[in-house]
Amino acid sequence: MGNSILIYDFSKMGIMKKIKVGFIGLGVMGRIHFETLKLNKNVEIKSLFDVNYDLIEELSKTCNAKPYKSLEDLLNSGIDAVWVCTPEDTHYGTVKNALDADKHVFVEKTLDRYYQKAKELTELSKAKNNLLTMVGYPIRFDPNYRKMKEICDKYFEKKIFCWSLRQQLTTPSTLCYDRYRNDYYYPPRWYFEKKGGGALFSHASHDYDFLQWCFGDIVEVQANAGIFLSNGEAPDECSVNLKFENGAIGVVSTIWTSPIKFNYVGLVSEQGSIVLPEEKLILKINKEPETEIRFKEYSMWENEDNYFIDCILSSIIPEPSFDDGLKAVLVATAALKSFEENKAIKISELK
Ligand SMILES: NC(=O)c1ccc[n+]([C@@H]2O[C@H](COP(=O)([O-])OP(=O)(O)OC[C@H]3O[C@@H](n4cnc5c(N)ncnc54)[C@H](O)[C@@H]3O)[C@@H](O)[C@H]2O)c1
Repeated sequence: MGNSILIYDFSKMGIMKKIKVGFIGLGVMGRIHFETLKLNKNVEIKSLFDVNYDLIEELSKTCNAKPYKSLEDLLNSGIDAVWVCTPEDTHYGTVKNALDADKHVFVEKTLDRYYQKAKELTELSKAKNNLLTMVGYPIRFDPNYRKMKEICDKYFEKKIFCWSLRQQLTTPSTLCYDRYRNDYYYPPRWYFEKKGGGALFSHASHDYDFLQWCFGDIVEVQANAGIFLSNGEAPDECSVNLKFENGAIGVVSTIWTSPIKFNYVGLVSEQGSIVLPEEKLILKINKEPETEIRFKEYSMWENEDNYFIDCILSSIIPEPSFDDGLKAVLVATAALKSFEENKAIKISELK
C-alpha cells in the first residue's frame, strides 16, 4: 500500500465534499465502523439497513441517518458508498447489489465465506472500474504491523519463518467487552456454525492476509483443528502450517478456548527478527543492537475507515483490494479442507 496512505487532515487539504455513507449490518463490527465514521468530518452517515430494524431505528437517533427496511431502499437513498458488515455468508448478494447500484464498497473480512462467490465479486469489482472496493483487514492499519511489513520489504530475503498465535476466550456464552463502543456483547452464534467457518476460516484470515502481504502467495497448507468449547460446527482451535511460493514457511494458530487473551506475532529470517508480543515491537536486524518500539495510542479502525474515505475523495485505489481478500479466502478454504480431509492441500487444487 505504501505511497497510497495519506495523513488525514482534510481541513488543510481544503476538501469540502462529504461522502454519503450507508451501513449494511450494524452488529459488533458495523457499530465499530459506525462510531468511527461519525467522527470523520468528510462523512455524512445517511442511511442504515439491518434485518434487525429495531436496532437501526435506535441507532438512527444518535445521528441524522435514516433507517431503511430493505437493501434496495438503502441503495436508492442517494449514498456514495456502503460499509457491508453482515455475516460473511451474506456478503456476495449484498456486495453484488451495491456494486450493481454503483456504490463504492467497503466489506468486512472475509470477502465471502465461499471461494467461488468471492471470485465472482472480485471479477465484478474489476469490471466496475469507476468504483472503489476494499476488504476490511484492520491490522494492516496498525502501525506495529506496518512497521513489520516495512522491515520485511527492506531486509528479509532468505530462510524466512513466520508465526502468529492469537488466543482469547470466544464461546457463545463468553461476555466480551468492546472498548471501542464501551459495550458488552456475546459473540454471535454464527461465528461457531459452518457458515461462519470458525477460528480457522474467518479469524485466522487476518493472518493469512497479513503474511501474504509480507511474503507473497501461500501455496500449501496443512491444518490441525478441534471443536473443544463452543459445541459448534466449526473449529474453535487451530494450527495451520503454511508454505509460501518464495520458500518461506510459517504457522498460524488461533485459539478461542484460552481464558488468557494474548497475541504473539513474529517474523525471522537470515537478516534478523522482529516480534510483536502484544503491543511492543522487538527488533534485531543484522548486527545492530536489539531495539524496542512502542507506538503512541492509535486506532486501527480510524486509520482503516478514514483511509477508505480518503481514497474515495482522492481517487486512490485502496488496499487490501478484493484480489487480496480473495487470496485470504483461498487459503482459509484450503485450511478448512485440510482439516476436514486430514491432509495437506495445495492452493492450486482449489482454483
Ligand atoms: N475486522 C475484524 O476484526 C472483525 C471482527 C469481528 C467480525 N468481523 C467481520 O464483520 C462482519 C460482521 O460480523 P459481526 O461480528 O459484526 O456480526 P454480527 O452478527 O454482530 O452483526 C451482523 C449484523 O448484520 C445483520 N444482518 C444479518 N444478515 C443481514 C442481511 N442479509 N442484511 C442486512 N443485515 C443483516 C444482523 O442482524 C447483525 O446486526 C463479518 O464479516 C465478520 O467476519 C470482523
